[in-house]
Order: sequence, then C-alpha cells, then structure tokens
Amino acid sequence: MAASRGGSEGPAEGRYGEDLFEPERAGEAARIDAAALVYDPVTTRRLRALGVGPGLRCLEVGAGTGTVARWLVEEAGVEEVVALDRDTGALAGLAGPRLRVVVADLTDERVRPGSFDLIHARFVLMHLAERRRIVSRLAGWLNPGGWLVLGDAVELPDVLDASSAYRRTMDAMWQALWATIGTDISGVPAYPHVLREEGLRDVGAELHCPPLAAGEPLARFWSETWSRMRPELVATGRVDDEVVDEALAYLASPRLAELGPGMAMAWGRRPPG
Ligand SMILES: C[S@@+](CC[C@H](N)C(=O)[O-])C[C@H]1O[C@@H](n2cnc3c(N)ncnc32)[C@H](O)[C@@H]1O
Repeated sequence: MAASRGGSEGPAEGRYGEDLFEPERAGEAARIDAAALVYDPVTTRRLRALGVGPGLRCLEVGAGTGTVARWLVEEAGVEEVVALDRDTGALAGLAGPRLRVVVADLTDERVRPGSFDLIHARFVLMHLAERRRIVSRLAGWLNPGGWLVLGDAVELPDVLDASSAYRRTMDAMWQALWATIGTDISGVPAYPHVLREEGLRDVGAELHCPPLAAGEPLARFWSETWSRMRPELVATGRVDDEVVDEALAYLASPRLAELGPGMAMAWGRRPPG
C-alpha cells in the first residue's frame, strides 16, 4: 500500500461513515446515487456477461442505496440477495422476500454472511485499509463456480497539468481521503492479480473512465464530494478556499472538459467443485 500517498505518515485512524461521508448528513444518498446512475449500466452489463441470473445467491457488499441489489432481484431475477452495509438507512425500504438487508461492518472478522454464487463490491474496498484481508475473506465466501466482482476508482491524470484548480483539488482530495479514512486507489490496477492469488480462475478486468461534463451526474458527484470535504481539502495545504471555489465553478461551467476518475472492474471465479 502507498503509505506515503500524498505525504501522509501512516494509516489513517478515521472510518468511512464516521469521519467522512456520514450517512445521516443531508444529501449523502443523492451523492452516492449520482455515481450509481453512471456506473450501474457498466456494472450490470458485466454481471449479465458473467451469467448472473435466476437461481443465484448474491452478496452485495457496501450496498449503498441498493441500486445494484435491486437490479439483481428485479431485473436479473436471482434467487436471493444479501445487501450488506455498515449503515443500511438508505436500504430500509428495499427488504423483501428475496432481498435481505444486513447491518455489518466488513472489517469485523466475525462477520460471516454465508456462501454465495456472486459477491460484488463497488467503491467500497478502496475506502478500507484492511482491503487485502477483506478480499481473502470475500473469496472464502464463494460457492464453487461463484464469481467475485470488484469495482473501485482509478484515475488517469493529465500529467502535464500540475497547476489547474481542478487538478490541485483532485490531488488534495486523494491525499485528504488517505489521511482521514485510509482510502487508497493505488492498488486497484492490481485487482486481477489479487484475485488470481486467491485461487480464482477466469480472471478478467475492464476500465470505464467517463468524461466529465457540466450538469451531468458525475460532475455533480465530484462537486458534492469536494463541498463535503472542503475542510479536509484545505487542511492538506495543497489548496485554499479560493482554489476549491474555482474548481467547483469549473465543474459547473460549460468549459469543463476532463477525463475524470473512473472505475476498474475485476472478476474471477472459484473453480467449480
Ligand atoms: C461509496 S459508497 C458505494 C455504494 C455502492 N456500492 C455503490 O457503488 O453505489 C460506499 C458504501 O460502503 C459502505 N461501507 C463503508 N465502509 C464499510 C464497512 N466497513 N462495512 C460495510 N460497509 C461499508 C458505506 O456505508 C457505503 O454505503
């Protein structure tokens, strides 16, 4: 892990949902939904291509507002979905005969939700310092033939741009996330290798990096994220309020033209018994 990411001295002590992105804060579910709107079609297309459909038992890890869990039940027609999250407030209305909502902290080693034919985690592991051990535990919950599908953020920054307000704010964000809750995306490109290390087969991966455009859901997502994190961004010393304001104005302007951070997905399956 990049212990020196952004100059921080060591692993952060804060937690997602406690020290950043508190679920009870107004607008948090809408922030998560803005990203889900963009990535759900990518995720569900991949799950379909992996053969996800009727008869499967699925675990949706860090289910958020439940958009993927709902798709699994309503569109893919799977047998059962367990939607697990440390905070299930946004999932409350979704529980039903084929969708079980479980409140659990993934970092708690005592958590054992059962065994599954599909385990999917999107934009969750990157936020958890224990991510490597958690991948081992997730792989251990797979039925023979079952798929583990991981999706997390990646970024292809414009290396020639070191000084724009957009770039400085984005860099400050990654540093602040690392320093506050231990978020780290440096290991995401290694996910295919990690899945292979876990003994999974038929490993594959894909990358989706949508461009940012003003008024679109992803520009709203980053705008909300930066607004929420303003104190942490400024605390990095990389930006001040003026730079953050300029970056936010750029996200909302017709001049906006950036290849924003995207999502890498990697998958692998436990060999059939
Ligand atoms: C960025 S959101 C992603 C939500 C959803 N997977 C999606 O892609 O729309 C991260 C989710 O992981 C959950 N989460 C964070 N840390 C967790 C933990 N230690 N155990 C269980 N869930 C956690 C959060 O509560 C939140 O719902």
